[in-house]
Amino acid sequence: MVTAVVVVLCLCVFAAAGHGQPYEGDLGRADKAFYDEVRQLLSLDRGLAQDAPIREQPRAADTAPADTAAADKPDVPKAVKNWPQEALNLGQVSGVSVNSALQPVIFHRAERVWDEYTFNETHHYQQSHLGPIREHTVLTLDPQRGKVLGKWGADLFYLPHGLTVDRHDNLWVTDVALHQAFKFKPGELQPTLTFGHRFDPGSDTKHLCKPTSVAVATTGEIFIADGYCNSRILKFNAAGGLLRVIPSPSEFLSLQVPHGLALIESIDRLCVADRENRRVTCPRAGLYSIQGKKEPALTIQQPDMGRVFGVAARGNLVYAVNGPTSALLPVQGLTIDPQTESVIDHWAPEEGFGNPHAIAVCPNGSALYVAEIGPNRIWKFELVPPKKK
Ligand SMILES: *[C@@H]1O[C@H](CO)[C@@H](O)[C@H](O)[C@H]1NC(C)=O
Ligand SMILES: *[C@@H]1O[C@H](CO)[C@@H](O)[C@H](O)[C@H]1NC(C)=O
Repeated sequence: MVTAVVVVLCLCVFAAAGHGQPYEGDLGRADKAFYDEVRQLLSLDRGLAQDAPIREQPRAADTAPADTAAADKPDVPKAVKNWPQEALNLGQVSGVSVNSALQPVIFHRAERVWDEYTFNETHHYQQSHLGPIREHTVLTLDPQRGKVLGKWGADLFYLPHGLTVDRHDNLWVTDVALHQAFKFKPGELQPTLTFGHRFDPGSDTKHLCKPTSVAVATTGEIFIADGYCNSRILKFNAAGGLLRVIPSPSEFLSLQVPHGLALIESIDRLCVADRENRRVTCPRAGLYSIQGKKEPALTIQQPDMGRVFGVAARGNLVYAVNGPTSALLPVQGLTIDPQTESVIDHWAPEEGFGNPHAIAVCPNGSALYVAEIGPNRIWKFELVPPKKK
């Protein structure tokens, strides 16, 4: 009964919202509060139906190993004032990562935005006549002052989304308009790997549909979050051969717009910003063995999490950012301990966040960066030990 009512409400709201597909600019509408409420009901309903057995797994803090108890006091992100020191003239900053020289690398959309006219009902990009973005979309910044050190990626992309720099400085990007993900070797203009078909959305394993994000393991395995329409993750070997689809039909996991990825290799988990389910869920990554393949995902879901847009790993912890969800939920950063399935800290810059979209941690653990799509900007945070009581 409850389900039926929720579904009917939901259909009406989706119809009222135009194409009814999630995009980033659909906030601040008059019907937003209502829409959010319906989504919340829907996700509660779904949560009860599908996730209850997983959440009932005993994972009390007192059974946690000693080193996760220490994680009760994680380092706190503190916004670096006056960083970047110069105006960068950015479009929507959809992606951020950090290269091997510990420099932040950002992916932005220049003048292009994602709104309700960008795609039609069948997920086809409607603005290909504009051509690719002419400006450089990938900028490498100086970590100290935020000055632009390098520019790349003009005349290649239509609607940038995720960016990941791996430890060999290969650039992995997704373009939601092209429905593709790419691997570029440093400086090269031709991708060495291409996933999905150009401007051709699809749901078989040769196609992607508005892919959001890529994670690359030290073993070379590749995870692509696909994305806004298919709500799945594809796992490939280093050569681009498909290994697995997450969730597999037997897996007790249902994703709803997987929007960001973070690997924690030490515990063999792939943490997913499961955006419209308003949670972070960490299924087995399956990097080193198939042992534990059947173990349920670690799932972090709390009433105040909101729609989780980005995740980044630091040690065994995950730093995440949510985005506007409802008037009652602050837009903020969350520090998460996946092993105890708990949120252990909340944080935000004094000025507050607008629309955080992606987050990255510096490989040496000293800083993290948050990219926003309105106001368009990039934040640097230093990670400082918590104040003693
Ligand atoms: C980490 O990298 C940043 C950026 O290059 C640097 O300023 C900082 O000193 C490094 N910290 C450590 C602990 O190595
Ligand atoms: C969406 O656009 C594509 C190409 O622009 C077109 O082939 C397709 O028929 C359109 N779908 C609908 C439902 O209009």
